[in-house]
Amino acid sequence: MKYNKESQRDLVDLSKLILANKTAKLAIEDQLSQLKKVIVFHEWKYSILNDPVISDFEYDQLFKKLEALEAENPDLLTADSPTQRVSNDLTNDFPTVDHLVPMLSLANSYNAEDLKDFDIQIKKLLLLPEASEIEYTVEPKFDGGGISVIFENDMLVRGATRGNGVAGEEMTKNAKAINSIPLKANFSEEGIRKVELRGEVVIRKDVFNKMNEERAREGLALYANPRNTATGGLRLKDPKEVAKRGLVAFIYQIGYAEDKDGKSVLQNFETHHEGIELLDKLKFNVPVKERKLCKNIDEVIDFCLGWQEKRDNYIYEIDGMVVKVNSLEFQAKCGATSHHPRWAIAFKFRAKQATTKLLNVEYQVGKIGSITPVAKVEPVALAGVTVSSISLHNEEFITSKDLRIGDTVLVERAGDVIPYIVKSMPDLRDGSEQVIDFPKVCPSCSTELVKSEKEAAWRCTNYHCDAQVMQRMIHHVSKDAMNIDGFGKSYIERFHQLGWLKTIADIYRLDYKKIAGLEGFGERSATNLKKAIDLAKNNTLQRLLYSLTIHHLGKKVSSLLAAEIKHVAELKNWTTEKFVDIKDVGPVVAENVIAFFEKEENLQLLEELESLGVNVKQTEDDLPKMVSEDAPLFGKTILFTGTLQTMSRKEAQAKAVAAGAKNISAVSSNLNILVVGEKAGSKLKKAQALGTVQVMTEEDFQKIASS
Ligand code: IVH
Repeated sequence: MKYNKESQRDLVDLSKLILANKTAKLAIEDQLSQLKKVIVFHEWKYSILNDPVISDFEYDQLFKKLEALEAENPDLLTADSPTQRVSNDLTNDFPTVDHLVPMLSLANSYNAEDLKDFDIQIKKLLLLPEASEIEYTVEPKFDGGGISVIFENDMLVRGATRGNGVAGEEMTKNAKAINSIPLKANFSEEGIRKVELRGEVVIRKDVFNKMNEERAREGLALYANPRNTATGGLRLKDPKEVAKRGLVAFIYQIGYAEDKDGKSVLQNFETHHEGIELLDKLKFNVPVKERKLCKNIDEVIDFCLGWQEKRDNYIYEIDGMVVKVNSLEFQAKCGATSHHPRWAIAFKFRAKQATTKLLNVEYQVGKIGSITPVAKVEPVALAGVTVSSISLHNEEFITSKDLRIGDTVLVERAGDVIPYIVKSMPDLRDGSEQVIDFPKVCPSCSTELVKSEKEAAWRCTNYHCDAQVMQRMIHHVSKDAMNIDGFGKSYIERFHQLGWLKTIADIYRLDYKKIAGLEGFGERSATNLKKAIDLAKNNTLQRLLYSLTIHHLGKKVSSLLAAEIKHVAELKNWTTEKFVDIKDVGPVVAENVIAFFEKEENLQLLEELESLGVNVKQTEDDLPKMVSEDAPLFGKTILFTGTLQTMSRKEAQAKAVAAGAKNISAVSSNLNILVVGEKAGSKLKKAQALGTVQVMTEEDFQKIASS
């Protein structure tokens, strides 16, 4: 091990002192060596161990201090300074390959002032008057894993991670598994034979959350955050697994380009923007909607601050914006240090990590009895939101992170990624911390908890446990289930406390006169509630099935079942075989449905619901929408080309689907019909050459589709 526990603690303490400007007066040389020492340590913790002990913001501050000190004392600059290289995250799993040109880091800025300074610096470098205006492109700084991809003779031939900036890990097969990277792109048409593109691989926040929920259910270790999930995804051994992970590559830079004679053609573009436009045209995933071409630094500042506010609503995790001088001639004039280009800067958003104290752990009982531990922490501001409760998922999460009550913990919240505890900080313990004792009995009904080997959660098995009954009612009225407008958790809790809600059936027996008399209610709100409940009585069978809280019975399987039966009671007689005969219905959910229908009280509940007027039968909407075999274009594939006169492309495609056809996007031997509008070009030629495609005019199509 490189550092022992004591020296690690000393380095953390020293970092904090440096950040607070509280170190003893030292000679410049010693200040420099101190800074280098702590930065090298934090880089090791971050990139090699994946276990940072300070926030990114604090690390950046240390780095800036070192840069500033070196700038003031250029004669003390050493080749091994962290400013002289980009941090190294190579592992030995994949062969190492050199980048055609180094992939550099970025300098950082945190506010409008920093950006103004950057603008002034650029003008100095370009020897332009201070009053002149520089054009910048601004786009998000994606928080994922950096990659480089090389295309040669239009084919994707190599993919590599960023690595240490000079060399990365070769992962061509994995790059090919990422859908957003085209396997072939027509660079030759632009006179480019070989090109290296740079980008960032990310994963959508909702996809990440879903993946972790699934892993928590299966008792697997959780991914720390979307960034780690993306970088980990790039290094998976099996490209098929990569494809499943939902990775997306954003390309933000052309690093290198040459023509057939090996001559660089980067200077054929005038601006960065032009290069990106070309990539957009060649169907690369470039941040088109997210970027802005700004006339001057004030526009840049407005745009960056605007994104800081809306970053939470964006589907990917971003940790800032990247500001780049647009003119390539200017970029060349500005040049680069060995660490970052001088013509670009990152604008970093407010910190999303913070440390706080773990005060207590509470235990929630879910609708199927799973016990979820929830950490109560000292309220802390994280990316603009105050956080005081954080899910700890399950017992394994607590033990694997060795969390103790009283611990200082590092918490992180990124956009709408649910806040989570990254880790505890054992080095900061004073001995008063308490080990967390996971309860042995249900906190609501005191039934002994059980845990099956296959599951991560401890479970209360008492079907009549008050907490579970209430959670089932909350689920029943929720948006995706019976969707009872205005009826939520707080009403359920209140009516339950008043003794009015004991089972789900009671929801349909509420006494609205009594409700109107409650404090905070009145005639109007009681009538509205009645209306919403009456409306829900006509729901589809799919909604009813989903609302019953049967373990693993989600919306999709509910709709598959609802399509198969005329009345809910039919499921009583179903065998496992009958369930699994339906595509996408597995044996586990089958067993759970069977168990539900074996319980007398559940059958009684369904009978009660029926007698109270709740729909328990298949409705029209429960039947899958199928195009009949008599549809005029049943089973045909179709493609529209050229400019259509009587309808938009979208309308045409919808019409084709309604007539039973399937839209496809290219002319191939799979294509049955090509509808040609005006100025049809290569697609028509190709179809004619194939000889198997039926070519029709827009008018013909209209006639056939409406027949
Ligand atoms: S430009 C030579 N643009 O941030 C220009 N980088 O801290 C350097 N990144 O290594 C990169 N989004 O992995 C650029 N829109 C973007 C970016 C971006 C994310 C990453 C990239 C880079 C790191 C620098």
